[in-house]
Amino acid sequence: MKTRKIQKAVFPVAGMGTRFLPATKSIPKEIMTLVDRPLIQYAIDEARAAGIKEFIFVTSRGKSALEDYFDHAPELESALRKSGKTELLEVLKDTNMDSGAIAYVRQNRPMGLGHAVWCARRLIGNEPFAVLLPDDVIAAEKPCLQQMVEAYQETGGNMVAAMEVPPEKAGSYGVLDIANDMGSIIEARGMVEKPAKGTAPSNLAVIGRYILSPQVLTNLNRMKQGAGGEIQLTDAIAEEIGPGKVYGYRFRGQRYDCGSKAGFLQATVAFGLARPDLRDEFAAYLAELNAMQKAAQ
Ligand code: G1P
Repeated sequence: MKTRKIQKAVFPVAGMGTRFLPATKSIPKEIMTLVDRPLIQYAIDEARAAGIKEFIFVTSRGKSALEDYFDHAPELESALRKSGKTELLEVLKDTNMDSGAIAYVRQNRPMGLGHAVWCARRLIGNEPFAVLLPDDVIAAEKPCLQQMVEAYQETGGNMVAAMEVPPEKAGSYGVLDIANDMGSIIEARGMVEKPAKGTAPSNLAVIGRYILSPQVLTNLNRMKQGAGGEIQLTDAIAEEIGPGKVYGYRFRGQRYDCGSKAGFLQATVAFGLARPDLRDEFAAYLAELNAMQKAAQ
């Protein structure tokens, strides 16, 4: 199928991060680190791997640390250069964005994810775009958004990342109503945000990666309130439902919910164990800890 290239991605980062207070009193949640890289860096790397060229951040007050993070740091760079720390200079490279490649737009009131994405409408314009929620960190051999871009080239329409969740957890997610399950690609006949207990159409949940048509932005213009009184992205996508219009994509990879403390800790352990420079020492420590706990029981 002839689809347009996905070149723009929206990163909604306006949330107050209250679940991580007091840490988030003075630092944005997206700057919190998994090992030694801020959450947002994982999302940016994933977007880059999928061919994204323009990065649009929807921010709010108190998020200026994010802007600094993606800027050059001339003093730091020259100090590293002088002391011959070339490998650290390399590490910093991933944090630099070309001028004009990154744009910031403010969401001046917390009115929901749909509203956050709508705030970026003028920067997105009339072309399909991606949305990445940095709270959802996905470890995968082929980065999740790249998998989706490849699948989207076959399907067109709108595509959301999807994953089976335990039925009792479905109420915390957007949930797909399945029309046609083709394995990794699922055609949807409906989508519900945070369904009430016992009403979820399936246990296939939407995870924070989206490829959307600009029509979704037009739908958001109506500012229809949904679950929790918020303007929901899920509802604006659901309005697009029709044959060949909305797909779920069962990605290959492990998703961590870094919007929750338990998920963040799990990701920290997993990413620590995946790092060649830390693996041995950290694994030995975990084994020791485990043995100590068993002995204490
Ligand atoms: C958001 C979306 C929801 C999706 C979830 C994935 O919800 O609204 O549809 O399932 O992200 O993480 P939130 O977690 O912001 O409440």
